[in-house]
Amino acid sequence: MKHWVAEKLICPDCLPEEHSLKTQISREAKGDIIDGKLNCPACGRAYVVQDGIANLRPEKTLRVKGVNNGYNAPVMLSAYMWSHFGDLLADARATDAYRIWSQSFVPTSGDALDVGCAVGRLSFELSKTHDRVIGIDTSFAFIARARQIVREKNLDFELVVEGNLTERKHVAFDNGWHFENIDFIVADALALPFAGRDFSGVAAINVLEKVPDPLKHLEEINRVLRPKDAMFLFSDPFSWDPAFSAPERWLGGSGNGSSPYSKRGIDTVRRMFAGEFGVFDPPFEIADQGNVSWKIRKTENLWEQISSQFLVGCRKAD
Ligand SMILES: C[S@@+](CC[C@H](N)C(=O)[O-])C[C@H]1O[C@@H](n2cnc3c(N)ncnc32)[C@H](O)[C@@H]1O
Repeated sequence: MKHWVAEKLICPDCLPEEHSLKTQISREAKGDIIDGKLNCPACGRAYVVQDGIANLRPEKTLRVKGVNNGYNAPVMLSAYMWSHFGDLLADARATDAYRIWSQSFVPTSGDALDVGCAVGRLSFELSKTHDRVIGIDTSFAFIARARQIVREKNLDFELVVEGNLTERKHVAFDNGWHFENIDFIVADALALPFAGRDFSGVAAINVLEKVPDPLKHLEEINRVLRPKDAMFLFSDPFSWDPAFSAPERWLGGSGNGSSPYSKRGIDTVRRMFAGEFGVFDPPFEIADQGNVSWKIRKTENLWEQISSQFLVGCRKAD
């Protein structure tokens, strides 16, 4: 973990109180903290940094799935590496989803946060428009891979063909990403380890339907986003699944006529952007919206085609 990231961290277990963490370094290399601890002076919890990966997951928020969940499996790593970087491999079957999402970013002073970043493509793109970028995810496998890309500044990975049969893929990047200003940590979208109003840009794509408490996820984004001169890129397929969140927590598609969230999720989020339900304060002006066609390739013969509905919200400078 880079020093500038350590300086921004607060204790997620103490939220809503915000207590900065004290860094205790056991080993570092080339400006990267490799092993150490991040200690909370208020609650006494020590968050571990091991092999450069800081684990800021809180103990007391709703439990997210354990380290063996789907997003840590090798087939998922291969799937997301292809999904994020397939266009750079010149694979004709790749989509231009991340190019479309990243077109919404406008150069803005201040730092950006990519919530549920997976292997980091959007974070890399955000480094072209923001001062520094932090990607967070609960998957150790994804965060370790994203950090490896930052270190090596190129891509080398095993793409699953079928079963244990893989094919080596390589890409050398030459696309204006500022690797020195990007880092990735393990953290929970429902208890972000950052002080309020710390970011001028937040992206959360394809995450809402994957967290156990979707409303809390949006409230956390509101907490860490600046009230002025800020943007929020939101996108989701709204394919609600009780395996991730209980139906009473869904923000759309509940089918329960007495719930404010019985209709389409994108309409709920649009109303939230406008200030309804008290989630976003101040509200956002919608700068762009649409659908992005996005693909995940699990094996040579297994593909998922997804339509993700996006909204770009802006808070003006004055
Ligand atoms: C559908 S994937 C989307 C990944 C990426 N944003 C993209 O669109 O390519 C959902 C991501 O959210 C992460 N995730 C799930 N629950 C999370 C949580 N509570 N906090 C942070 N990340 C989470 C998963 O590990 C996974 O990387």
